[in-house]
Amino acid sequence: MSRSLSAKSMSSWLSQALTNQRRWGDYLAPFRPWWQPQKSANLHGTRVVSVRAESDRVHTYVLQPDRRWPGFVAGQHVAVQVELNGRLYWRTFSLSQAPSHWQQTGLIELTIQTQPQGTVTPQLPTLLTAGSRLRITPAHGRFTAPKTTAKALMIAGGSGITPIRSMLQQWVHQNPTHDITLLYYNAGREPLFKAEWSALEQSMPHFRAVMIDTETSGLIQPQQLLSHCPDLSQREVFMCGPAGMMQAAHEQLLGLGLDPAQLHQESFGQAAVIPANAGHDGEPVSVHFSQSNKSINSTGSHTLLQLAEQADTLPNSGCRAGICHQCKCRKTKGLVYNTLTQQHSDTGPEDIQLCVSIPLGPVSLEL
Ligand code: FES
Repeated sequence: MSRSLSAKSMSSWLSQALTNQRRWGDYLAPFRPWWQPQKSANLHGTRVVSVRAESDRVHTYVLQPDRRWPGFVAGQHVAVQVELNGRLYWRTFSLSQAPSHWQQTGLIELTIQTQPQGTVTPQLPTLLTAGSRLRITPAHGRFTAPKTTAKALMIAGGSGITPIRSMLQQWVHQNPTHDITLLYYNAGREPLFKAEWSALEQSMPHFRAVMIDTETSGLIQPQQLLSHCPDLSQREVFMCGPAGMMQAAHEQLLGLGLDPAQLHQESFGQAAVIPANAGHDGEPVSVHFSQSNKSINSTGSHTLLQLAEQADTLPNSGCRAGICHQCKCRKTKGLVYNTLTQQHSDTGPEDIQLCVSIPLGPVSLEL
């Protein structure tokens, strides 16, 4: 919580905090010191050490998490909790520097682009200044760099460069002889970290960075991929960028004969996808919310969080990506599929995360 919270916003925040909890322990959360991890949600007190402007709309926040923060693998992300006008918001961002940097200094970096229409990111440059405090989750995500790779193609679009930067820094740290080609796409904007790519070309004999402005060169195309990377089939491919670009790149790479096992891409924010083997047959199933005595039918295309919101049951939520555990809820009966762990639940009572759970049969929730 910011120290400059006004009396009005303090009162609004306090009343929200005291009326929107399910467990007794959660009522004490507002009074917990910032540096003490919030065990129920696995949060870590974090201090802003400094802020760097990378461009007019991109800033890098240098953060010092508490000493219990468990570290990360290059390519992973954290959910960040910030307080705005008395409300707590969650947003998920990639860690933009190498794990080795955190191991040496205890510091991490988040490079965040302002979304002009967004609620949170336009406020961050004034909210998060040196000395401010916030909370973060442990790092999560399966888009990670292997310890070593003989040959790699990295494809990034816009601010999707941040996990790619983390991976590259880690590989340079471990073995600067890696053979890596970076294709970095931007639409009429200066590439982020441009000086770093030039420096890497000097220090890594087999690193090549190609900056592509889509306003002059057009969107990603198969011929362009092949011309910059003729030995594509011999490379592991790591890519992160806007959803449309990722989908086009995915189709083009497979069309060029790349083995899907060689392709790794960032996937946060994606809609819930039920694999064919999950066991949902498309027939509507009923979801019952016992505390509000409401029900809704599901055909398997929505998470329980989305269904609960459609039913107007006011569930708690944060990251919507299975990270923060704010949406944890008691299921009293029914079978659900967890899209994050790709596991089926038991049919009896247990706590589940609504944002990554899909009902596979009639389900009852304490909500
Ligand atoms: S909303 Fe964060 S884990 Fe579900």
